[in-house]
Amino acid sequence: MAASIVKRVSRVKKLNVSHISARYKLLTGSRHFSTSKQWNKALVLGVYENESTDSIDFTGTARKFDEKADGKISQLLLTVKKPLKCGKTRTLHAVDPEFSSVLVTCIGKRGEGYDELETVDKGRESIRAAVATVLQLRELGENEIEVDSCGDTEASAEGCHLALFSYDDLKAEKSRKPAVRISCATRYSQDKNSMEKEWRKGAILAEGQNLSRRLMEMPANLLTPTKFAEIVKEQLADKCEVLVRDKDWAESMKMGSFLSVARGSVEPPVFLEIEYKGRQSDSPLALVGKGVTFDTGGISIKPSQGMDAMRGDMGGAACVAGSLLSVSKLQLPVHVKAFIPLCENMPSGSATKPGDVVTAMNGKTIQVDNTDAEGRLILADALCYSEQFNPSLILDMATLTGAIDVALGEGAAGVFTNSENMWNKLQKASVRSGDRVWRMPLFNHYTKKITECQLADLNNIGGSRSGGACTAAAFLKEFVNNKNWLHLDIAGVMSNSGDVAYLGKGMSGRPTRTVIEFINMISKETNN
Ligand code: BES
Ligand code: MN
Ligand code: ZN
Repeated sequence: MAASIVKRVSRVKKLNVSHISARYKLLTGSRHFSTSKQWNKALVLGVYENESTDSIDFTGTARKFDEKADGKISQLLLTVKKPLKCGKTRTLHAVDPEFSSVLVTCIGKRGEGYDELETVDKGRESIRAAVATVLQLRELGENEIEVDSCGDTEASAEGCHLALFSYDDLKAEKSRKPAVRISCATRYSQDKNSMEKEWRKGAILAEGQNLSRRLMEMPANLLTPTKFAEIVKEQLADKCEVLVRDKDWAESMKMGSFLSVARGSVEPPVFLEIEYKGRQSDSPLALVGKGVTFDTGGISIKPSQGMDAMRGDMGGAACVAGSLLSVSKLQLPVHVKAFIPLCENMPSGSATKPGDVVTAMNGKTIQVDNTDAEGRLILADALCYSEQFNPSLILDMATLTGAIDVALGEGAAGVFTNSENMWNKLQKASVRSGDRVWRMPLFNHYTKKITECQLADLNNIGGSRSGGACTAAAFLKEFVNNKNWLHLDIAGVMSNSGDVAYLGKGMSGRPTRTVIEFINMISKETNN
């Protein structure tokens, strides 16, 4: 059975069973008392948006359930005038002896699919948002919930597993969200096996993103570079090879750019190298993630307001870890190598100063005009290093610039790539996942800004603030030779302010599922 416990915490309050059974009897006149704990059970059913005031357009599962309940669900829904609109719900109680609550959620118009302007599969996205209302059932104390597949089992599983995530490990037990067991309502399905399989895939996709979210949300005093490596080892060790490289190793590799960022902190830097071998190949797919566990800006220090969000400046690293978790759990036939430079960016007596010149692994010298443009410095060496493994493609992810947030906000991650083909694949993946991407330019225009430098080969800020995300990408380009390179600037999508209905407020873990889908697509090709 594909039921999954969403939280490890076992503190589950049992409802007062006899009390509720008695109430059910009172309301229905039924003589049948249901047995014990089943009364914690709830069901989520989907309906399509429908103008009619005398009929309900149920999903397949919902229709069968309504039939079994002698049309009670439709009767109750039709007692009020206004039909359900997309994203809205009605909760019914005491309509079935097995379920104490039946939540009816509207999944939008029937037959919705790809929307060109929105560049998203609207049908799937509406399902994710609609089933995220399982949260209402958790509020009611329900702890076992069966969810309608709503015509797309994978999207349904994603939506509820993502919605139920909460990072409250550091709170008192009594204020933590209770554990909820969710499963797919397969009881009326013809092909239970394939439904369970799809459900499991959706749950694993969400699990990867939830790992990213947890890592991003963790405070920087707890999630140091060393601790990040430890958690990743714990999460991935049985499926991947995890190498934890130290400062001496980075020195021996001549990663002067990476180390120039780490030197301001007392926390030792770590360089993670992870391998997942779902197939044999000489040209792995390379993932690179920015792992700044806290970004103060260094000597070019940031203003203090909102600086706490910089605990999420390892979002790229987190997405790499989350993606690898899902890729390995799905056992995708693909060879992946991941590279994660981890450090803190701190001001101190040993910190890099504006105007300092450092040398990257490929011998290029960099004038560090602003120590707050540190992400590109640590990625420079990681990208150079990744090239040594003859990768078929390089995909890097980084919360790199505030400028990408100005450009795209939470709408999409910015993608800079030298490959039309790779862009098309990534975009396709994002249409499926609902976690969107938008292409940005890699013009020579921007390269000129970072190659104009008084003391060194490159400067790390590109002169003015204009086109900041593009100059950052142009900087990274100086460290890549691969013909299939994609750089994702994910600073804008780092946190969710409430725009994505199935992600709570806080660190988003985006675009983990898009990356997993992308790798899934690549794994289906023979030459990778
Ligand atoms: N980590 C920041 C970018 C960032 C900003 C991430 C907001 C998430 C939310 C990055 O290291 C940074 O400080 N970038 C500077 C670059 C500038 C100094 C050229 C920026 O965007 O201001
Ligand atoms: Mn910075
Ligand atoms: Zn940063």
